[in-house]
Amino acid sequence: MKRSILLHPDPRLKKMCDAVPDLTDELRALADDMLETMYDAPGVGLAAPQVGVLRRLVVLDCVKQEGEAPRPLIMFNPEIIASSDEVSVYEEGCLSMPEQYADVTRPVEVTVKWVDRDGNEQTEDMGGLWGTCVQHEIDHLDGKLFIDHLKPLKRQMITRKMVKMKRELARG
Ligand code: NI
Repeated sequence: MKRSILLHPDPRLKKMCDAVPDLTDELRALADDMLETMYDAPGVGLAAPQVGVLRRLVVLDCVKQEGEAPRPLIMFNPEIIASSDEVSVYEEGCLSMPEQYADVTRPVEVTVKWVDRDGNEQTEDMGGLWGTCVQHEIDHLDGKLFIDHLKPLKRQMITRKMVKMKRELARG
């Protein structure tokens, strides 16, 4: 089932999310819904608070090559356990901020640990788009948006545009 995605600004996007204590069928269903919502958007990542659930859960699939098999990842309680010193700049966007993009600097590569859909612990080194995306999504679980990495002026500009967009959407 597709869920609706919260748009910035929304207080739920600024909250610290709680860890998932035990995997339940309800949480697995939520993860499946989030993947469906992400693919439909379309996007390469989605975090639970973006669908209004304040739990530490993200989904991602950064396979963008036409014809390449999809690689849906479901991460419960994801954690960055190591980051490279080397950084890179990537133009990021967010499904909670349609049409807004900005350059964000982050470590090139991170080592991520998480619990998968079957309850198994996984660890993987992630770089490139995967590395950027997983950092962006984990930020969401700490109430942090990509614009929080920008200078205040740029951040305020995007927020103003989003306030206007939400007002127009509400008017219908
Ligand atoms: Ni996002």
